[in-house]
This record gives sequence, structure tokens and C-alpha cells, in this order.
Amino acid sequence: MANTETEERQYPAGDDTADPPYLHADYRSTVTKSPSRPLIPLDHTVSELTGPVFDADTVSVGENDLLSDGEGLPLGERIVVTGRVLDEDGKPYAGALVEMWQANASGRYRHNADGRDAPLDPNFVGAGRYVTGADGAYSFETIRPGAYPVPDSGWWRPAHLHFSVTGPSLMARLVTQMYFPGDPLLELDAIYMSIEDRAARERLIARFDSDLGVRGVSLGYEFDIVLRGRANG
Ligand SMILES: [Fe+2]
Repeated sequence: MANTETEERQYPAGDDTADPPYLHADYRSTVTKSPSRPLIPLDHTVSELTGPVFDADTVSVGENDLLSDGEGLPLGERIVVTGRVLDEDGKPYAGALVEMWQANASGRYRHNADGRDAPLDPNFVGAGRYVTGADGAYSFETIRPGAYPVPDSGWWRPAHLHFSVTGPSLMARLVTQMYFPGDPLLELDAIYMSIEDRAARERLIARFDSDLGVRGVSLGYEFDIVLRGRANG
């Protein structure tokens, strides 16, 4: 299907100043995964522009509570992470699927690809989902992840949460990471530092807010996520 002018305005190409480059030598997996030839723009297809569609029934109640996977609470510092999913005009995106995954408090993922000699936590899986309502808001209850060393590299990943956010169409999907303020590992992290614009990469750092957590129980962080595209009407 050929693009209409409206569709082209809705989903422009990426922002070279805010997005990391496809190839960043210090981030070694980009060396083999980055394109070796110039990209060829393709028209958006109907299925890319119109779906998938998510609503509150897409996920089960409690999937945003990462503290309830086992018989007891997981180890670690309890945190609440909350924010809004917005379009480029600051309008909330309703029906955005927010998927989040993370390492445990020891910096270990419950995944076959993570064979590091750090303990798994029987009470922690490290994955959650949420679908936004009309206000675009999401939240997760979890624990602060630990830092972990990158194999054969000499550097450590700062504490971070992985996010995949799918908005009103696949063209508005964003995969990104959230970091914590004041982490000394940030400036040593090849992935974080692959975003050349300082202001752009600092937008990946959550804002600590002493009013967001549960008093005496958990600390709170705010992290708004802006997907590409603009409001219709
Ligand atoms: Fe990670």
C-alpha cells in the first residue's frame, strides 16, 4: 500500500541525535548485527499501521507485580517504577503494551543465555507486563536489579530495566532501557554511551521521587516513555 501524507507524518524516520547508531564498536554485538548497506525505506503496510490492538484483557491482573513470583518476596531493594506512555505531542497513549524485564538483585537473569556465577533467586523471575489506560500510565512493583559484568569486556552494565513498548501500531514500538540516577557505571557503559547526545541519553535515567514509593517499604522512580508518532486530531 502506498503511503498517504498523513501516515508519513505520523511515523517519521528515527531521530539521528536521540537514537544510538546501528554500529558502535564498543558494543560488540552491533558489529555483527548492524546493516552493512544503506537502508531502503519501505512503505508502511496496513498491518503495521493498524495493529496489534491491546486492552486491559491482554494481560492478567498482577502481571506488573514482579514481587509475587514465588512463595516469598525476592531479595533486593524494593522499588516502584511508574510513568506514562506519551506520543510526540505529550498526549497519553491508551492501550500501549508495556513489557519490562530485568536481572535479579545479584545481576543475574533467569535465562539460559546467562550462565554467570551469580545466584538465581527462587522468588524472582524478572518479567512483567501492563497495558495502559486512558491516562497512559503504567507501574511496576519490583526490586532494583544488580549490575553485572559483560563477559570478556572488562566493563559492567549499570543497573537497568529493559522495556519494550508497543503503541497503537508496530510502527510505534520502542525497545529501550531505563537507568538509575547517580550510578557511577553509566559513563563506563558502552551501550548507554553509544547514544552520542548527552541530553538524549540522560533521558534514559529515571527520576527518583520520594513521594512515589510506599513509605517505609519501597522507593519510587518515575520514567515517562515517548513513542514516535503524533496524536490524530
Ligand atoms: Fe540487561
